[in-house]
Amino acid sequence: MLAVVPPPVTVRAPSKINLHLGIGDQRSDGYHEISTVFQALSLSDDVTVAASEEPGVDVQGEGTGTIPRNSDNLAWRAVRLLAEHVGRPEDESGVRVMIRKEIPVAGGMAGGSADAAAVLLGLSALWDLDVTREDLGTLAGKLGSDVPFALSGGTALGTGRGDQLVPVLSRHTFHWVLAFDNRGLSTPKVYGELDRLRAVGDPPRVGSYDPLVEALASGDPRQLALLLGNDLQAAAVSLRSNLRRTLRAGVEAGALAGVVSGSGPTCAFLCTDGDSAVEVAAQLAGAGVCRTVRVAHGPVHGARIVDGEDSP
Ligand code: C5P
Repeated sequence: MLAVVPPPVTVRAPSKINLHLGIGDQRSDGYHEISTVFQALSLSDDVTVAASEEPGVDVQGEGTGTIPRNSDNLAWRAVRLLAEHVGRPEDESGVRVMIRKEIPVAGGMAGGSADAAAVLLGLSALWDLDVTREDLGTLAGKLGSDVPFALSGGTALGTGRGDQLVPVLSRHTFHWVLAFDNRGLSTPKVYGELDRLRAVGDPPRVGSYDPLVEALASGDPRQLALLLGNDLQAAAVSLRSNLRRTLRAGVEAGALAGVVSGSGPTCAFLCTDGDSAVEVAAQLAGAGVCRTVRVAHGPVHGARIVDGEDSP
């Protein structure tokens, strides 16, 4: 009798930026207590999971030379975690993961987290599992602080490690220009640098997210621009001083405001509308302050199946 091989499943998972990122104290588990407002952006990775006799991870696209292909890869850890969770660890040896990357690697836009979220959703369809989105969210939190948001998308307030999510009302679409740096930044190093800066001085703190949440509800990009803020920015700039120039160049190119995304080094620039974003991107690309620029909009959906089985 022939075994039925399920068709491959492709999932699109979004990048994120932090419109507001407030970092609190370091906890006993080494993580910092944070309060953040995430927005999912149209810049996304497509991840295909397929039954295969050659298990492993393939990566194409943005910055792929630097991604681990072995069991350190977060996407592969997602395969293992889901297989263990549903009691079929033997199945992991029959899975191939193919990642088409647009999200910069180690760029502060949660690209690895997006890929892991995509694997959880894609495999639950490939294996026809009876797991809810809520279960997937719990597994996502075990893989990394940003993975639950990559599943849920939209605009959300994140607390705890950033994994406790509540949706936030966001009216209208916002238009962004993203400036990628030449090399990535390590998230633990950027948190460590913030701890160091706080031990020797008093870097600025973003304060409450309430005004920003109101600006999102109003949908006015000019109002939102005044309220973007990231406690990790000072640390990212301290490790990568060229980011100061990039941030200035985006505003000089006509953006309403710029902010380092998460732990950086990607800088995100809010623009008045889509046309302005295209102009800002062209001018910023010509300024020679970054490796490459992209235009994106948000909020967009969390990880979702774009080809293959229906979503669970
Ligand atoms: O959760 P994730 O693996 O993405 O976190 C990577 C690193 O970033 C952690 O090991 C920790 O050093 C730092 N981090 C933190 N506090 C957070 C999130 C991440 O200190 N809330």
